[in-house]
Parts: sequence; C-alpha cells; structure tokens
Amino acid sequence: KRFSVIMAGGGGTRFWPLSRQNKPKQLLNISGNDIMINDTILRYEKVISIENTIIVTNKSQASLLEDILLEEVPRRNILKEPLGKNTAACILYAALFLQKKYDDCVMIVLPSDHHITNVNSFKSVLEKASQLAEQEDNLVTIGIKPTFPSTGYGYINFNKSILNNGAYEVKEFVEKPSFDKANQYLSSGEYLWNSGMFLWKTSKIIACFQRYLPRLYNNMMQIYADIGTQNEEQAIAEIYPNLQNISIDYGILERSDDVIVIPGDFGWNDVGSWDALGGIFSPDDKGNIVKAKHIGLETKNSIIFGNDRLIATIGINNLIIAETRDAILVCPKDRAQDVKNIVDMLKEKG
Ligand code: GDD
Ligand code: MG
Repeated sequence: KRFSVIMAGGGGTRFWPLSRQNKPKQLLNISGNDIMINDTILRYEKVISIENTIIVTNKSQASLLEDILLEEVPRRNILKEPLGKNTAACILYAALFLQKKYDDCVMIVLPSDHHITNVNSFKSVLEKASQLAEQEDNLVTIGIKPTFPSTGYGYINFNKSILNNGAYEVKEFVEKPSFDKANQYLSSGEYLWNSGMFLWKTSKIIACFQRYLPRLYNNMMQIYADIGTQNEEQAIAEIYPNLQNISIDYGILERSDDVIVIPGDFGWNDVGSWDALGGIFSPDDKGNIVKAKHIGLETKNSIIFGNDRLIATIGINNLIIAETRDAILVCPKDRAQDVKNIVDMLKEKG
C-alpha cells in the first residue's frame, strides 16, 4: 500500500502579509487554482489514492485546514503536532502511525507548499519513484536540475552511471550549503537540487531513525502504544516539547548511504517568497506580474499582488507590492528573503 504524508506545519513567513500565523502559506491560494495543500493532493491523484493521504500539521491550524481541505481526505488522517519540531519529528510521527495501522507500507513524503507546472510529467516521475520505493530498501529522492546557486536547498551529488532500476546512486547529500559551495556545485554539473519529496518504506525509515537519530527515536517510541488510541493527543503533547528539532535532511539524508535519486523536470517551484511568483506566472510585456486591481505609469519588472483596493504605481522597477486588508508590503525584489525579518520584528513587538 502507498500513502502520502504531507508536511504542513511551516509558517511561510516570507509571504507576509498574505500568510499569517493562523493562515499559513499552505492554506493560501497563490496560484489561482486552489489552496496549496489541495493542489498538492490533486496532483498525485491516480498515483496515490486520495483516501490514503496523511497530513501532519500544527494543532492551531487544524480546524481551518479541516474546513477547506478536499472532502475526500479522511479527517482522522490529520496528525496534529502541539508545536513544530521540524521535519524529522513530523516524518517519524507519520511513519509510526502508518506502521502501526497498516504494517510496512510505502510513504511518499511531500511538502505542502510547492508549485508544479507540468502535472503529467510529475505524475510519471512519482509513479516511477513509488515503484522503486516499493521494490528496494532505499531512500528515494527526486532531483531537480539547479538553475542558480541557492543556499536554501539540499544538493545531491549523484553517480552519473544509471542503475538498472533507472535511478542514480547518491554519492553525497549536502543540505543548505554556503554560497561558495552552491556556486561550485552548480558549475560542476554533477549536482541536483533536492526537491524535498521523499519515498521509502516505513520499516526502512524507522530503522534509519533508530540508527541516525536514536534520541528522537527513543523519545517517540515511548508513546508508540498510544498512537492511534484515545491517549494519542495527550501522549504527543507530553513528549513533543522535548523532541530534538532537526530536519530530515540534516538528520538522515546527509548521513545515510542508501539514498538514490530520480531526476525530474516538471516545472518545479518551491514557492518560497514573493519573488517566486515569477516562476509561476508569466510576466506581461513590461515584465510585471500583476494579481491586483492596478494602474501603472512606467512600472516595470514588479510583482503587484492585491486584495480589493486599487494599487497605483508610477516610475517603479523591480519592486514587490503586496496589499491585504490590514497590511501592505513594499520591498525591492532582491530583498524578498528579508520579509521574514519583518515577521520576527512584529512577533517581538507582540
Ligand atoms: N508538520 C510539520 N511540522 N511540517 C513542517 C515542519 C514541522 O515542524 N517544519 C516544516 N514543515 C513542512 C513545511 O511546511 C514544508 O511543507 C516542508 O515541511 C519542508 O519544510 P521547509 O522548512 O520548507 O524546508 P526547506 O524548504 O527549508 O528545505 C527542504 O525543502 C527544499 C526544497 O524545497 C529541504 O528538504 C531541502 O533539502 C530542499 O531542497
Ligand atoms: Mg520549503
């Protein structure tokens, strides 16, 4: 059996003021199709059955999620974390939940906040990767050809001779390298970006936790008996605050020798910050992406996102303007990453 595990606990702070603590990025409709988490589910239809969707989210976001999540997803499959402890804890929780309920099965771990242009091509890559995870005891990753020296992604150094199952052996996995390293990896042509999607058997990943993250594993196993019972929520609430805060990338993928990669080319975009809208929508003849009521004079290469007010701009270039009911952001495109600092400042102010 195959299950998806959608990680939906992130805040998406770089999409302020559109994303807010109680309405994070995965619950926003940025593409114009549907909210990001529903888009995530619909794009794997036929490869994974929608009823086999597991979602791991923050308790504080769960009721809004239940209201707007696709109806076909069983609400009992929403696992609620009392607080975010990063992706390793989230994945182990889901793996134990599945292992207990269904015995060994394949879990397909997906981020909830990415955009993919070519859904058919994505489906065929996902099908191939799922089959590999079913057949082999490997950690299967999907690699994307890098286009710029991002320091926010994982890099996968792969052995260029193809394995007979159609995948490539991973020599080295490097999470969020320095800018110099990222530049070096990009120009070498021997690295792929980690797309953040993972496929493996529950038994395999649980064994990896035991080996590489024994503290996290032992803490979580203390409540294994409670998973799927009435005591689950309470048990999780008790252990979660003390769990190790580490991502699956640093915790397991960088350390394991069993990682393989399947390259994919399906218009992948980690919708990380406002400037990423450039990868989702095509700009108009002035280089602008306008999702607002807008009137402009000499307005170029800008991203203008609005709610209901009319936005007027004169003589601007390379700006991001995002208007919501109660806040407006104005920021040069190349400072889009710093929006999270504004959110931190607001948090400090209370
Ligand atoms: N439930 C839950 N709990 N979900 C979480 C938590 C948590 O504590 N922390 C993060 N997530 C979710 C996010 O909402 C997102 O969907 C996904 O897990 C990945 O987390 P990010 O925080 O967005 O990771 P990243 O973008 O820095 O890095 C990962 O993704 C890159 C590609 O987008 C890594 O896997 C990189 O190697 C990869 O290149
Ligand atoms: Mg991300």
